[in-house]
Amino acid sequence: MADKTYENIEIKREGQITFVMLNRPDKRNAMSPGLHADMCDALETLATDAETRVLVLGGNGPAWCAGQDLKLYFREGAKDPMMRRKANNDSHHWRWEQLSRYPKPTIAMVHGYAFGGAFTQLCACDFAIVAEDATLGLSEVNWGIIPGGIVSWNLSDMMLPRHALYYAATGETFDGKRAVELGLANFSVPAAKLREETVKFATKLTKLNPNVLRYTKEGVKAVRHMTPENARDYLGVKQDSLMRLDKEIGDRVGMSEFLDKKSYRPGLGPYKR
Ligand code: ACO
Repeated sequence: MADKTYENIEIKREGQITFVMLNRPDKRNAMSPGLHADMCDALETLATDAETRVLVLGGNGPAWCAGQDLKLYFREGAKDPMMRRKANNDSHHWRWEQLSRYPKPTIAMVHGYAFGGAFTQLCACDFAIVAEDATLGLSEVNWGIIPGGIVSWNLSDMMLPRHALYYAATGETFDGKRAVELGLANFSVPAAKLREETVKFATKLTKLNPNVLRYTKEGVKAVRHMTPENARDYLGVKQDSLMRLDKEIGDRVGMSEFLDKKSYRPGLGPYKR
């Protein structure tokens, strides 16, 4: 079935990898109320799409995302409380209630510019690959707001406290290599290779058992704010649930290939599925 078309985003496919591209290039992919609504709809649809094994969040044109749309989200929103409320809820919904807990692995593929509010979806994705020459920054302080929504929380969660405060308080920009040093990205690559390297990494993820991958990422994220006792209990139950959900895991195929058939070394990669 053909993908739905949207006014503010574009869906592209490459095998089992689905690219969701922010598509307001003339506005540097600034996030308008319409873009937020489109993202809510697309993420809901793709969550159960069997052809989507990995979701990549990219941007068309010269920027990944220039943050919230200052005109349509802030200025127009201030005049229309109902629209502002919906846009605010949609903005939080697609990025934090959907993307950060997505049932498939997600990759932020960042190029050009990423400012302010864009940090929430950067942090919501499971992985981030950034072009070396990308320009990222918390520009809020430059024009008189604080990193709101949940951006300040995202910074505190992902970065060391001194780095989070430094970049939020100064608005100083940094590049893709620095984003890796700061813990915001997994790796940076030359801009010309961004898509190729993203596909290479995404393809690697498609070789893993999707249930194990999903439970692993859910587990790692969930235990972060738990006590060790709660984490131990939660992870035990989670593993039991995984073994019931997935026959291959329940049958301990990997263990048997290693111990009985001696056909496979778990330390060196996933067994052939
Ligand atoms: N909101 C609304 N419109 C925007 C935004 C934005 N965040 N960013 C860019 N645009 C629009 C511009 O107004 C311009 O529109 P126009 O052609 O109708 O005049 C168009 O996109 C192109 O922008 P330029 O500034 O001409 O593009 P350039 O490539 O020179 O610069 C840059 C790009 C650096 C991203 C610049 O546009 C910029 O500083 N944008 C604002 C970034 C920002 O501070 N975002 C808000 C963060 S705070 C938050 O998200 C809560």
